[in-house]
Parts: sequence; structure tokens; C-alpha cells
Amino acid sequence: MSKNETKAMFAGSFDPITNGHLDVINRAARIFDELQIGVLYNPNKKGLFDFEKRVELVKACTSHLDNVKVVSFNGLLVKYCMENGIDTLVRGIRTGSDVDYELQMARMNKELNPNIDTIMFPSDTKFSFISSSLIKEVLLFDADIKNLVPHVVLKELKDKKSKGEI
Ligand code: PNS
Repeated sequence: MSKNETKAMFAGSFDPITNGHLDVINRAARIFDELQIGVLYNPNKKGLFDFEKRVELVKACTSHLDNVKVVSFNGLLVKYCMENGIDTLVRGIRTGSDVDYELQMARMNKELNPNIDTIMFPSDTKFSFISSSLIKEVLLFDADIKNLVPHVVLKELKDKKSKGEI
């Protein structure tokens, strides 16, 4: 990658990746030369899917995008970005409360590293109510979630449900 090419980071827990995440990824991948998807590795926080499975699902869902690279990080996101020549963070916003939270994070990240800026993508209306945690909750009550997550994720979620892990 040459010096003038743009590199951005879309980080998250992705527990699991949803159609909302994927919409932001598809849109950001059109704008930046390289988009890294940073899957947070936090050994102290137990999610539904283990870290390896979350990475595997993000990779499976983004394999159609040549300029997307799936990576993992732990610790401070801005530190990872600084060490890897990334100066833009990508975030999606769904609601007003997301804006408050995202502004706070963007400003904290800028405080920690003034060279890093955050670009926020307003979610598509049809994904504005999707969150990984709500998906897990409604699946628990047998709701149909096929429009909310990619097919491979749906399969894994149903598998977890059948094993009583949700
Ligand atoms: O899946 P999420 O909750 O939207 O992701 C939040 C994430 C992982 C981007 C954020 O918690 C993060 O950057 N964590 C790494 C530690 C860090 O840098 N914290 C400071 C944030 S201002």
C-alpha cells in the first residue's frame, strides 16, 4: 500500500456480526482503500461466541470485499491504529443515544491520539434497530431473525440455541 492510500478501522466485539455491521462495512469499504475490521479480544469478557468464532464469522461475511482485512486487537484501539498506520476510525450510528456514546468515544480517542479521527455512518433505516444483544434476546424466544444477520451467523446462532447455550 502506498503512502497516499487511505486506511480505516472498524472495530467492535462482533458477538456476532449483524447485517447492520455488514452494511457499514460495505459502505466504508467503498470509501477507503483499506478497511480493517478489528475484532476485540478481551479474555476477561465472556461473550456468546468465543473470540475465534467471532473472527471466523466476520471473515466469512466479508470475504467478498478485496480491500477488507480482518484483524484482532486488545488494549487501546488508538494504540493499535497508531502502530499500524491507521488514522481513521469508522463507526455506525443507529439512534440518538448512539450519537451521545459515539461522540464521547470519538473525543476520548482523539484526546488519546490527536492524529486519529472518527467517521460515523448513519445506519440504513432498515438496520437501525439491530444490535447483537437484542438479536440474542429475541432468538431466545424463537423470533425469526433471518433478515437481521448473515446466513452463516444465523446457522451458528440456531446451533447455539439448539444446544441451550442461548
Ligand atoms: O462492539 P462495540 O461495543 O461497539 O465496540 C466497542 C469498541 C471495541 C470499539 C471499544 O470498546 C474499544 O475501542 N475498545 C478497546 C479499548 C479502548 O480503546 N477503549 C477506549 C474507547 S474510547
